[in-house]
Amino acid sequence: FLHKLVLGIETSCDDTAAAVVDETGNVLGEAMHSQTEVHLKTGGIIPPVAQQLHRENIQRIVQEALSVSRISPSELSAIATTIKPGLALSLGVGLTFSLQLVDQLKKPFIPIHHMEAHALTIRLTNNVEFPFLVLLISGGHCLLALVRGVSDFLLLGKSLDIAPGDMLDKVARRLSLIRHPECSTMSGGKAIEHLAKQGNRFHFDIKPPMQRAKNCDFSFSGLQHAIDKTIMQKEKEEGIEKGQILCSAADIAAAVQHTTACHLAKRTHRAILFCKQRNLLPQSNAVLVVSGGVASNLYIRKALEIVTNATQCTLLCPPPRLCTDNGIMIA
Ligand code: KG4
Ligand code: ZN
Repeated sequence: FLHKLVLGIETSCDDTAAAVVDETGNVLGEAMHSQTEVHLKTGGIIPPVAQQLHRENIQRIVQEALSVSRISPSELSAIATTIKPGLALSLGVGLTFSLQLVDQLKKPFIPIHHMEAHALTIRLTNNVEFPFLVLLISGGHCLLALVRGVSDFLLLGKSLDIAPGDMLDKVARRLSLIRHPECSTMSGGKAIEHLAKQGNRFHFDIKPPMQRAKNCDFSFSGLQHAIDKTIMQKEKEEGIEKGQILCSAADIAAAVQHTTACHLAKRTHRAILFCKQRNLLPQSNAVLVVSGGVASNLYIRKALEIVTNATQCTLLCPPPRLCTDNGIMIA
């Protein structure tokens, strides 16, 4: 091989993932085991369960990534592994496994910050120059950062409570969408997006949070409680029991999706203006990268596109398989 090869290992949350990438960004092979189905059944991630599933799968996943790449472990130049942030029990499995491998193979170890990996992933598919803005929105992440270099980040805003995907998952659960014939196999966020298309966002007036806060932080738990209250009222009005699907579920989905999109767009708009005022971003053609599971929501993307169009910025999203947790971004 002409190029140096890195094995990347990711176990920070509920995906056991590994990949081999060369120094020019070519992906030689990847493998992944998702625990989503198990966690969907229990209504959320139970850390010891996640840990056990990582333990059961890590060896096989790493082996698969290597064999798909058609390389032997001795050909690796280094092993890169997520060390933070994430669930401690989950992170521990990847770290323990990697350190054993490092010891066995006598290879260098590269500790990886999970959020930095997410933020830099766009550089695998697009020729993006520093500095650029990144908005990471998923079930576990919500942050807005200025990326000035491979290890130079300025955190501009974060969620003060839960992440948007977590909020959408909770609302979907509260609406019992898992029992909805069209949405039963979808993640909460995807189910909300699907149902929202059939709903009217004007039927419920739910205000975006933090309208007066002069910063770029986010908040989603107030929104979740407002939606909870609306659902409770509707359940009374429609005379249905907890667990049944409301007639107004689609309208509620449309309202929560719209308010989420507005909130994300407004905070991002502030961040762009702030960076431009201080010359932290170029005045024209600055790049906003949006990544994470929630970034696959087309309504939310549209709202962010309105912001980037109005501020002469370009909106970029990594392809969906690179938006969510994966081994490639770590490698
Ligand atoms: O990045 P990801 O796969 O995992 C982490 O959370 O790290 O993101 C999953 C989250 C879930 O909360 C899921 O409900 C949400 O992303 N999500 C969506 C959509 N697809 C997945 N949220 C809104 N719209 C979607 N289409
Ligand atoms: Zn992640």
